[in-house]
Amino acid sequence: MNYNFPVTRTKNPKPRPQDETKLGFAKYFTDHMFVMDYDEGQGWHDGRVVPHEPILIEPASCVLHYAQMMFEGMKAYRKPDGTIQLFRPDMNAKRMARSGERMCIPELPEELFIAAVEAVIKEDIDWVPSAPGTALYIRPYVFGDDVSFSVLPAQHYRFMVILSPTGSYYAANDGGLSTTRIFVEDEYIRAAPGGTGFAKCGGNYGGGMRASRKAQKYQCKDVLWLDAYEHKYVEEIGTSNAFFRINDEIITAPLNSGTILPGITRDSVIQLLTKWGMKVTQRKLSIDEICAASKDGSLQEIFATGTAAVISPIGCLNYMGNDYQVADGEVGPVAQKLYDTLYGIQTGTVEDFMGWTHTIDIKKQ
Ligand SMILES: Cc1ncc(COP(=O)(O)O)c(C=O)c1O
Repeated sequence: MNYNFPVTRTKNPKPRPQDETKLGFAKYFTDHMFVMDYDEGQGWHDGRVVPHEPILIEPASCVLHYAQMMFEGMKAYRKPDGTIQLFRPDMNAKRMARSGERMCIPELPEELFIAAVEAVIKEDIDWVPSAPGTALYIRPYVFGDDVSFSVLPAQHYRFMVILSPTGSYYAANDGGLSTTRIFVEDEYIRAAPGGTGFAKCGGNYGGGMRASRKAQKYQCKDVLWLDAYEHKYVEEIGTSNAFFRINDEIITAPLNSGTILPGITRDSVIQLLTKWGMKVTQRKLSIDEICAASKDGSLQEIFATGTAAVISPIGCLNYMGNDYQVADGEVGPVAQKLYDTLYGIQTGTVEDFMGWTHTIDIKKQ
């Protein structure tokens, strides 16, 4: 289907940040955004690109009270030849559909999702940064917008896409990978079977903040979440999926509990490792097994995967007051190879031998 969304251009274009090494994360937003409405009986309608500005929302809007919403996180990259590409945007659309099903939010067709993302990026194409490690972060989201205090799915929704040029996650390290220290959370949980862990909905993140704050107190960058029943099996690291390399087996939590967000980087990492002939296993892994492996020297690497940093190697875990070192505490070879390959494909410096990239045709409407 050929969508042709009307565009209202801003009359006050913002100055673009000049120093791309100081972009940070979600500090700047581009000039335009995408907005579309949904009404029961009418479906999705009136998709449009408009200036990025504050929106009006009724104080009794249900999303502000009961958090019926979902979102996605993805990036557009500028290749060395200047063209702009997305990384596996169909996967974001499919994940949004699964989140929507869980949150009782009406289905947003994959084609419409991608067309909306492309429409707003085309308007703000000059905002896509090019310095190493930078990208245009894309935040599509949908929220229920009924004036109602009934705890029932809304009948009116808004779908929006906003854009933010973002800096290198490893800016402090001149763009090179570095390891972090992670707090193993044994009290609070992120998700339980039957809950919303596999969906990308705001409540999952609000509920995680207390643990993040606790991790900071222990000089840790983030939290390693354990399962809800036994506080025994590892699940995710902060807002990333987690991989553990022990005796040359690379282990990550399986998706069948419904408590893990199916990361697009996670899926890409599993595919690459499999292609490279490495042993990658999706199975339950206990924190005790990891601590024992740290002690006997068989814990070779831990890394987190996600859109924000691609690959984040972990150098040390803090669990129940003790530090557990990961090998020599430095960046491991598998993490480095994955980062070089994935980030290379995303930014067009490595040939896309997996067919994962999606070029945006830059002609404006
Ligand atoms: C809870 C959680 N897990 C994992 C991920 C990684 O997913 P992706 O690789 O699609 O960015 C994210 C980020 O979106 C997340 O929020």
